[in-house]
Amino acid sequence: MTESPESPESPENPASTGRSGSAGSSGGTGRVALVTGGSRGIGYGIAEALIARGDRVCITGRNEESLREAVDRLGADRAMGVAGRAHDEDHQAAVVDAVMARHGRIDYLINNAGTNPVYAPLAELDLAAVRKIYETNVVAALAFVQRVWAAWQRDNGGAVINIASVSGLGASPYIGAYGMSKAAMINLTQQLAHELAPRVRVNALAPAVVKTRFAAALYEGREESVVRRYPLGRLGTPQDIGAAAAFLTSAEAGWITGQTLVLDGGHLLGAGLG
Ligand SMILES: NC(=O)c1ccc[n+]([C@@H]2O[C@H](COP(=O)([O-])OP(=O)(O)OC[C@H]3O[C@@H](n4cnc5c(N)ncnc54)[C@H](OP(=O)(O)O)[C@@H]3O)[C@@H](O)[C@H]2O)c1
Repeated sequence: MTESPESPESPENPASTGRSGSAGSSGGTGRVALVTGGSRGIGYGIAEALIARGDRVCITGRNEESLREAVDRLGADRAMGVAGRAHDEDHQAAVVDAVMARHGRIDYLINNAGTNPVYAPLAELDLAAVRKIYETNVVAALAFVQRVWAAWQRDNGGAVINIASVSGLGASPYIGAYGMSKAAMINLTQQLAHELAPRVRVNALAPAVVKTRFAAALYEGREESVVRRYPLGRLGTPQDIGAAAAFLTSAEAGWITGQTLVLDGGHLLGAGLG
């Protein structure tokens, strides 16, 4: 299934894949990315950014119709979609098989699909919800890494980006289990960066509030007051995250691995005493 790459690639330096602007025979980069949970929000923003620089992208999501619409918006010549739930093992296998069947390679894996089904103090939290959060946010991310590694990256290199969160860097009231799962993703990033080097670079992005459906409850109806806690004067956009993902999968980031890049408009700098 792993036909030879159509684009020029240096097997000696496979971890430095993804040079912006390097043309494959099809006029793109010749690189292929898998973005889990890409039918809207941050995943869609990442897919847009990677397609804009010439990659081909596979996105996933549970709702088939919105996935199809997203693929149409991205351009069916550049994008494909496979519907399913990120933690479902049959879905994971189907996604990787479909991308390998269509493109014969998966250079970049962006573990973006994530969930936070509950808002409650940890001391009262239903443990079934904690397990569900970990299954989707952490176990599924590792499962995709394993499958993409076996299908392509072990022999050919590439890069992985895990979408963590600033809530994985400290306490976040009422979303404690989500924060725990994002902290696990940050450590997963470090473990994998060590283990998969030198062929595969693994980094994480840790955004504060980005304007998506997922985060709407955190800002809708009170955006002006929320934004006051952001020195750069605005919340994040999927395009902000897409630009960072494009950088981390580019040759310019070729010596960066195991890092968590905080994207927060200065939020974590704190308000100080003044
Ligand atoms: N927005 C923020 O402020 C923020 C901040 C930090 C980190 N993050 C992280 O960024 C990631 C994306 O969040 P977002 O804000 O872009 O959310 P979003 O706008 O709700 O989009 C989530 C995307 O993932 C898909 N999805 C959701 N659950 C899935 C599952 N179990 N299996 C497969 N696909 C699934 C959704 O499609 P379907 O609904 O059709 O499945 C959709 O395409 C998450 O990991 C989140 O934790 C978000």
